[in-house]
Amino acid sequence: MKIYVPMDSAAKALGADEVADAVRREAASRGIDAQIIRNGTRGMVWLEPLVEIDQGQGRIGYGPVTPEDVPALLDGKLESLGPVDEIPWYARQTRLTFARCGVIDPLDLDDYRAHGGLAGLRRACGMSQAEIIKETTDSGLRGRGGAGFPTGIKWKTVMEASAEQKYIVCNADEGDSGTFADRMIMEGDPFTLIEGMAIAGLGVGATRGYVYLRSEYPDAIRVMNDAVRIARQEGVLGPDVLGSGKAFDMEIRMGAGAYVCGEETSLLNSLEGRRGVVRAKPPLPALEGFLGRPTVVNNVISLATIPVIFEKGAAYYSGLGIGRSRGTATLQIAGNIKYGGLFETAFGVTLGEVVNEIGGGTASGRPVKAVQVGGPLGAYMPVSKFDTPMGYEEFDQNGGLIGHAGLVVFDDTADMLQMARFALEFCAVESCGKCTPCRLGAVRGVETVDRIAGGDPAAVDLLTDLCETMKDGSLCALGGLTPMPVMSALTQFPDDFACHKEAAE
Ligand code: NAI
Ligand code: SF4
Repeated sequence: MKIYVPMDSAAKALGADEVADAVRREAASRGIDAQIIRNGTRGMVWLEPLVEIDQGQGRIGYGPVTPEDVPALLDGKLESLGPVDEIPWYARQTRLTFARCGVIDPLDLDDYRAHGGLAGLRRACGMSQAEIIKETTDSGLRGRGGAGFPTGIKWKTVMEASAEQKYIVCNADEGDSGTFADRMIMEGDPFTLIEGMAIAGLGVGATRGYVYLRSEYPDAIRVMNDAVRIARQEGVLGPDVLGSGKAFDMEIRMGAGAYVCGEETSLLNSLEGRRGVVRAKPPLPALEGFLGRPTVVNNVISLATIPVIFEKGAAYYSGLGIGRSRGTATLQIAGNIKYGGLFETAFGVTLGEVVNEIGGGTASGRPVKAVQVGGPLGAYMPVSKFDTPMGYEEFDQNGGLIGHAGLVVFDDTADMLQMARFALEFCAVESCGKCTPCRLGAVRGVETVDRIAGGDPAAVDLLTDLCETMKDGSLCALGGLTPMPVMSALTQFPDDFACHKEAAE
């Protein structure tokens, strides 16, 4: 009998370790021959700890399980969720990037291979650099970190740059509020990221890679370090990748915890041991990145999607999606929501479908007021924009951004003036201080929102003006995008700002 208990951080936060201990104890005391596997999560966070039992006829799910439930679980008396693959929330997804997450033992390379792992890298090993770049470009994959820049074009820039040494840097400094896709895949299917980085390395001619991983993710750091060690032992990494005669190796580096270090140039400074301050662009990191050498800086999900593209082919991947948003979006549904978690589906699903049908509405049962999409720098989308399809351009046309595809849902008790204030306060705290519009603008912005709350009518125009200056004058996205949540709150929810004014009068 195989018993799966997730070791994902979210599952652990909900008691998965205690459940695993109870299963181990109970199985031992009963003399049951059970193999306990610590898998990643299937992404259905409200069911965690989700325990799966496989007695040779498929995996049956139980959840959420408490340690007290374990005797009944092993007696077969606990109510089951049925076959996990058939749970409707899971079954309606198009799982490509996350196909193996929650399914396999994250550190079992044979299990990884048995589920299609390394097929993409094996194929890439037989391709020329130009062919690898073309396949990536043809897939339509765009940067999943937030900016949506075409991955194939970025890689082409690095491939064509002439230098003795080039690098692949994976941005795993997942700092956006409500996002967890990077963490989940690193904890649940780390070889996918390693494989994607190796393919990127072969494509652009880089022999070294680094994962810049935030210190707040100790489980992901441990799993990734173990996975790199195993991959090296098994010849996936090293001087002769899968016997191809081509070299690629990588290591995990830990960030110290600053939101701005998720900005690629600040990340590179930090990776080099310098202070995490933003560099002016140009030069682009693709030409002068880590240690001044041509560097691919890609987000975890962009790189972790590469293996499935090479396994199934660019045409398969680009066949999904809408407009210029091809393939799947790895939606992270969070906040005040009934069914939160990681939901992977083709681009094109509407915001309303995600919140109401997939997410089941708010956890509080109250009406939805707003959804912040794309992290703390994303817009607050009102219910009137719920027909916006998940797509880069589609969101842009509706005053928003998809960003890293995190959605944080708020019910009608949310005070949008306070949310606008929070965005500016966040920027003031996290600003690297290099440019004036952000460094000073954010502080003045907090004061200006307080003036609005205090009933000063002139402060609304001042806030609007300040946001324009920050948007146009900031060096990087932190200062440049902070106006987005502020202005969306102000324009989409004017009553929350007017109420304060009237109350003060
Ligand atoms: P950007 O638009 O300046 O650049 C996007 C990427 O394309 C960069 O890697 C850039 O170097 C590259 N690039 C641009 N032109 C190129 C060319 N001609 N050749 C090769 N490469 C080229 O955007 P930026 O500032 O890197 O990212 C902003 C986004 O980051 C925002 O949209 C936001 O959603 C997202 N973000 C994500 C966070 C997370 O936790 N994942 C946190 C904060 C922001
Ligand atoms: Fe630094 Fe803010 Fe300027 Fe970005 S916008 S460079 S975080 S001061």
